[in-house]
Amino acid sequence: MKTMIEPFKIKMVESIRQTTEEERIEILEKADYNPFRIKAEDILIDFLTDSGTGAMSDRQWAAMMTGDEAYAGSKSFFRFEKAVQNITGFKHIIPTHQGRAAERILFSVAVKEGDMIPSNTHFDTTRANIEFNKAEAVDLVIPEGKIPTLEHPFKGNMDLKRLSGFLEKYHDNVPIGMITITNNSGGGQPVSMENIRETSKLLHKYGIPFFIDACRFAENAYFIKLREKGYRDKKVLEIAREMFSYADGCTMSAKKDAMVNIGGFLAMNDDTLAMNSRNLLILTEGFPSYGGLAGRDLDALAVGLEEVLQEDYLKYRLRTAAYMGERLTEAGIDIIRPTGGHAVYIDAKAFYPHIPASQFPGQVLCGELYRKGGIRGVEIGSVMFGKKDPETGSEIPAEMELVRLAFPRRAYTQSHFDFAIEAIIETYGERDRAKGLKITWEPPFLRHFTAKFTLAD
Ligand code: F0G
Repeated sequence: MKTMIEPFKIKMVESIRQTTEEERIEILEKADYNPFRIKAEDILIDFLTDSGTGAMSDRQWAAMMTGDEAYAGSKSFFRFEKAVQNITGFKHIIPTHQGRAAERILFSVAVKEGDMIPSNTHFDTTRANIEFNKAEAVDLVIPEGKIPTLEHPFKGNMDLKRLSGFLEKYHDNVPIGMITITNNSGGGQPVSMENIRETSKLLHKYGIPFFIDACRFAENAYFIKLREKGYRDKKVLEIAREMFSYADGCTMSAKKDAMVNIGGFLAMNDDTLAMNSRNLLILTEGFPSYGGLAGRDLDALAVGLEEVLQEDYLKYRLRTAAYMGERLTEAGIDIIRPTGGHAVYIDAKAFYPHIPASQFPGQVLCGELYRKGGIRGVEIGSVMFGKKDPETGSEIPAEMELVRLAFPRRAYTQSHFDFAIEAIIETYGERDRAKGLKITWEPPFLRHFTAKFTLAD
């Protein structure tokens, strides 16, 4: 059969509210053209993030009823620990309330001022946590990973040559090396097994521990199965195990590939690092057997980790992004190609050639997609990553102007996607009417969350 179906049926539904275009124009204006300022009930299809926004299964909800809320040594913790160990093989499994909490703990205990942490591309919270500890986050993704329309099977790969040169020079200042799978900030692109293995070898040559940012490890493993020689007949679980076997630890936001609405963990083999991490965890997150989560959350997470490795699910998951990508490409819309696992990234610079980076074409496109279809995406461009010239105060644009449409897991159906595709293509047809934006207010940090905009003159 050619028709791909969602590998689940729906047992509980949540209504979504239809609004008119006139209403949305008013809502957008009141939200100062920033989708983060729009109430969720005013959104029809929410592609803001795939983080914590998925639907849990009947098995996960059932497991929550068995949650053991004991403060110390709960049954839920041991079920969670077993599920994580079954995939990662790491000795110490430390629960945290989400991914960035794991990052904060890891970098607080392992990093000191002046250190440097290489990765393919650090996610924003990872970078921010490294910088908060006065260390430097260094991105070394392959050059192909930065060219949106260039096809490459593993655009998330580490540039091994540059990593090698970097380590030769700076290894004394590198306490850990990382790799993000899939590479969210670079378009949700996968990293090959060979590249994970070689990255590990290079780091281990200098005795540097290797950590994986494992948020979307299952999507990455399935890409390896589809695209890398020698993996077609392997189970995704086997592939995932091999990926983790090259590493000394990982950070994980369970809000992605563990299919839960909240949760995360830090895992590692080193006893001293684990002891120091647990000590800090107690200070800020909670006792090491719950780490800021309820026992029931740990049970949902354990089941989610099993479900995410089901091949029917992963096939449908990756196909969803590819399907939208194909339809948009056919319509002449430039996107990051090939599509990654969890999202489609539209090139807003190509969408709106008449809007300069100084007028934020990505932010304009977010607003237009909301006006046309009630769809919410997120700008990943000069609003999020633009810098200010310290002398003149003028804006230095980001490298790319993208809009990410990220897909909550198991939450939307084929017709939601067809609707979204139609709305994007219609918006493209009306591209000449779109006007640039200017900032009227912004906070000193992370401005994209709260900045206010108005139409540029
Ligand atoms: N690492 C990666 C690769 C991520 O994508 C995220 C979150 C984190 C770490 C942090 O995890 O949110 O649980 O603290 N990404 C979300 C997103 C927010 O929308 O891409 P967290």
